[in-house]
Parts: sequence; C-alpha cells; structure tokens
Amino acid sequence: MPQTLNDTAGWAPLALASDIMTATSAGTVWNGDEIVIWRDSAGRVHAWEDRCPHRGMKLSFGFVRGDRIACLYHGWEYDSAAACRYIPAHPELDVPATIRVARYKAVEALGMIWVAPLDQPGPAPVDQTQVNALRSLQVDAPLARLTQVFVTHGLPGLGLVRDVVADGAVIRLTQGAVRLVAGLHPVDDATSMLHIAVEGACTQQALAALVPATAALRRLAETGVAGAA
Ligand code: FES
Repeated sequence: MPQTLNDTAGWAPLALASDIMTATSAGTVWNGDEIVIWRDSAGRVHAWEDRCPHRGMKLSFGFVRGDRIACLYHGWEYDSAAACRYIPAHPELDVPATIRVARYKAVEALGMIWVAPLDQPGPAPVDQTQVNALRSLQVDAPLARLTQVFVTHGLPGLGLVRDVVADGAVIRLTQGAVRLVAGLHPVDDATSMLHIAVEGACTQQALAALVPATAALRRLAETGVAGAA
C-alpha cells in the first residue's frame, strides 16, 4: 500500500523533483504567482518569488553557483536564505541586509517538489515513496476540468481506471498494471499543470511508451477529444 501524504493543505506540487537537477533552476506559475524553483549544489531545493529585487529579471534565468543563485542580468548573487551577498559592479560593498528575495517553503515528497507560503502553518507533506517521473505538462484547462478528466480517463487508451484515490493535490489511480500518481496545481483560472509519475518498478522503455498517452490526456482536457489534434 502506498503511503498517505500526511497533510497537503496549503501546499502545491509544483515540479517533479527529478526535473530540478543539482545546480539548476526552473520557473513556474502557481495561481498567477511566478516562482523560481532551484536546487543548490548540495542538493537542497529552494522556492522563491521569480523576480530579482534589482530590476525585476526572472531569477529562473539565472545561474546556480554553490549555495547561491546569480541573476542573469547584472549578476547579483543571493544566498540560500535569499539575501543578496554580492553585487559585481560593487565588489567591495557590504550588501545591505534589506536586499532579499521573497521566499516560500519547499520540500520534496512523493518525487515532487512541494511549495507553500512561508507563513503556512502545520506540517509539510511527507511521503518517501519512490516514483518514476514520467513528465510534467501544462494544460489549457481549469484545474477542476483537468482533475475530472484525469480521474475519469486516467491516460487515454490504457484501459479501465480503478482504485482512484485523491489525496489533497495528488491523485493516484491504477490502469492495467500501471499505478499512476499525479500532482496537480493551477497556473491561473484557465490553465493547469500536471506532474505525472509511475509507482513501482518501471523501465525507461515502459515510461517512454506512456508519453503519447499523456499528450492524449491533454487534448482530452482541452478539447474533449483524445485523438490526434
Ligand atoms: S536585474 Fe538582477 S542583477 Fe540586475
């Protein structure tokens, strides 16, 4: 039996953990808020507002150096506590402590990176179940629509959907011999993100064979038709 996430209220799965490799960053949007998720060279994940305090460049375009992320535009560097530590144009400057990026909480559970506002009370999601990342995809459909389509059809063409369990922002279901787990979050009122993984043993070949079905799921949610666009 899979574990149950202990509590996901206020948290959202914003990325597949394996998609944010060590010393890389990626941007996403959660309910209209732009967020950079990055992993430092020690493997720790961070989620911040995706905006440099200097001139507003997206930090997701920047470069991770050790435990800092450097902005692409003028190279300001921010440490893992989101404080600016170095300004290349003024290398001798003791940078004021007020220059900081707004942070979120970030944890890894169920093979995904979960994010919550910094003042979110209560525990973080915990689930060490090993999963095989399949893919993340953006869908031009509201979250409720995407959720309903996924619960009803799973991945189109794989057969009967059974054992559906909705656990906060995560849906687990079984189709044939495949146990799917999906984390969902809204981008905005009209767009959603789906992060799909497979539980249990699964070869890379078997994962690759599922990719066309994820595209069919997106078409089904967006157009009502699962066939070729
Ligand atoms: S906009 Fe980021 S360093 Fe200037």
